[in-house]
Amino acid sequence: MTDKPRLWITRLLSDATIERANRDYDTVVNYDDTPGSADDLIAASAEFDAIIPCHSEHFSAEVAAQLDPRLKIIANHSVGVDHCDLPALNARGITITNTPDVLSDATAEIAMLLMLGAARHAVAGDRIVRTGAWDNWSPSFMVGKQMTGARLGIVGMGRVGQAFAAKARGFDMDIHYYNRSRLAAELEQGATYHDTIESLLGVADFLSLHCPATPETTDLMNDARFGMLPDGAIVVNTARGALIDESALMKALDSGKVAAVGLDCFKVEPGGNPAFAKYENIFMLPHVGSATKKTRDAMGFRALDNLDAFFSGKIPGDML
Ligand code: DGY
Repeated sequence: MTDKPRLWITRLLSDATIERANRDYDTVVNYDDTPGSADDLIAASAEFDAIIPCHSEHFSAEVAAQLDPRLKIIANHSVGVDHCDLPALNARGITITNTPDVLSDATAEIAMLLMLGAARHAVAGDRIVRTGAWDNWSPSFMVGKQMTGARLGIVGMGRVGQAFAAKARGFDMDIHYYNRSRLAAELEQGATYHDTIESLLGVADFLSLHCPATPETTDLMNDARFGMLPDGAIVVNTARGALIDESALMKALDSGKVAAVGLDCFKVEPGGNPAFAKYENIFMLPHVGSATKKTRDAMGFRALDNLDAFFSGKIPGDML
């Protein structure tokens, strides 16, 4: 027996995170690394004072209503919290935190990889070389779209959007953004603010999505909005699959309105959309935006910092 708070870690977090959690809490780790079901979450709430979940564990209103009062804090190992019904959890008196900041650079790196890969035919190019089908070269072969100096539209100029803008400045991109509110000049760093998403889309030869998934942003990119992009636009999504109407995206690719797409997230995860497989102009990754060693350690430590604050009677820095 120990008087340390009991902590359940739902997935296989980094070694350094687990080591620190074991030191400071009476910790149980789900080494099977399978997503926690609704029943698992409800059962765990009667045994643990705290849970560190990932975005794979869904705390719906239905789950929230059945949680045992023993559970005091959900310290998410993610910046996105669309897997948590915040009002329902708050109504149960549960503290909820996330891990902002620490994954911004890793996610912005993946957005850059996807943008370059989509713009320069990475999927088709890799396939042709890998399969031995590369038997010719021509100046008209695999001609892509150049990022350097091009207009970039960023939807959501929070921490990740700003980190992406910083990297895009290295490509001399002409940065435009839409955000609920305009940034201060020192954060804007010369980027052009658009007060409507429609205005932004009209100039977005390259478009990158960095806003959270909420009821308001579900299917943000639909038929009408894809239609507002300049012809041959490149679109990247490293935020959440909910932001894109995937049927509308395929229509936009079929018509050539959108030349190529880079996606790290999908409506259905894990798995993605099987209908995307035939499109070599969709460069896809399996939701790995924050998957670097440095960032995984930082996310785990940030979640533990929030727990430490909570259990020492302070307000966690990332309380939502
Ligand atoms: C996040 O932090 O929201 C990433 O998508 C990983 O969960």
